[in-house]
Amino acid sequence: MHILITGAAGMIGRKLVDRLVADQGLGGRAIAALTLLDIVAPLSPPGFAGAVRAMEADLATPGAAESAVAARPDVIFHLAAVVSGEAEADFDKGYRVNLDGTRALFDAIRRIGAPYRPRVVFTSSIAAYGAPFPEVIDDDFRTTPLTSYGTQKVINELLLADYARRGILDGIGIRLPNICIRPGAPNKAASGFFSSILREPLAGQEAVLPVDEAVRMWHASPRAAVGFLIHAATIDLAPLGGRRSLMMPGVSASVGEQIDALRRVAGEAAVRLIRRAPDPAMNAMFKTIPGRFDTRRAAALGFTAETSFDAIVEAHIQDERALGSR
Ligand SMILES: NC(=O)c1ccc[n+]([C@@H]2O[C@H](COP(=O)([O-])OP(=O)(O)OC[C@H]3O[C@@H](n4cnc5c(N)ncnc54)[C@H](O)[C@@H]3O)[C@@H](O)[C@H]2O)c1
Repeated sequence: MHILITGAAGMIGRKLVDRLVADQGLGGRAIAALTLLDIVAPLSPPGFAGAVRAMEADLATPGAAESAVAARPDVIFHLAAVVSGEAEADFDKGYRVNLDGTRALFDAIRRIGAPYRPRVVFTSSIAAYGAPFPEVIDDDFRTTPLTSYGTQKVINELLLADYARRGILDGIGIRLPNICIRPGAPNKAASGFFSSILREPLAGQEAVLPVDEAVRMWHASPRAAVGFLIHAATIDLAPLGGRRSLMMPGVSASVGEQIDALRRVAGEAAVRLIRRAPDPAMNAMFKTIPGRFDTRRAAALGFTAETSFDAIVEAHIQDERALGSR
């Protein structure tokens, strides 16, 4: 089996590579080759016996996607993206990477033509949804994004569904929860504080909280995110029908509930490291994000995640202490 990962140098990409190398296979098949593409040079994973092609490339640049799929990877994890804050701040970059890059990838697959029809796992986001929301968002809720990033994700979901309908690829779009606790340095995602208010105090450092404690979010750990990707790459997609994208399971937690979990794990001294710096614009923005989902479609397909926020904190402590934070 040959696997291509775009965005392989990113947070989820690196964890996916680690898991694939540890498993030495995917869906019961041995992995012979990995193509790792990122605009930042991806590292070759130590301990992998197969062939690795590390491509430092911009997916949206003409020729990059063609080159990445030339060896006809069986499974493509398409993670490369400019994240929410950056896509909002830089309109051109957001559309170029998130939309044009995705279309370039899908069209490179199309140009190879039948019988080539790879499994494509695309990472969408809760940003696909826009307020006003019901108390709980179910699988039939409309996607009306209110950010450029969310709009790019929804356009990609539509492209994925159409290319799948035409038999060009066998695709699934997984709408990831907020991935928490994000290890390492913060990125430009507007939602970064959901992780930093835990990650920094757990490391004895101060963190800034720009929103009030009632703000609610839908979370899953990096470990769960990798589990979603692996599961999405291996299951039969026929039950999806024409609705190729779906929300992933997670844990609904308010910021206050996150802080309670931190207190249970690391005590009051850690909680005191959270400095409140209210940002009314951020607060208003995060008051209109979806914080609670009913993900029975994903459950029926066998996707699983943590069921408590304490388990998410525990997953971080186990995984990052084992790795040394990267
Ligand atoms: N982390 C989350 O909470 C979350 C939530 C929902 C969806 N997602 C999605 O999951 C995917 C992975 O997220 P992540 O947290 O690992 O993000 P990340 O920012 O750590 O990784 C994204 C990677 O894409 C790469 N990239 C950016 N522009 C590129 C280009 N033009 N060509 C090639 N590579 C490029 C970046 O260098 C980076 O390594 C993204 O598609 C993201 O939108 C993440």
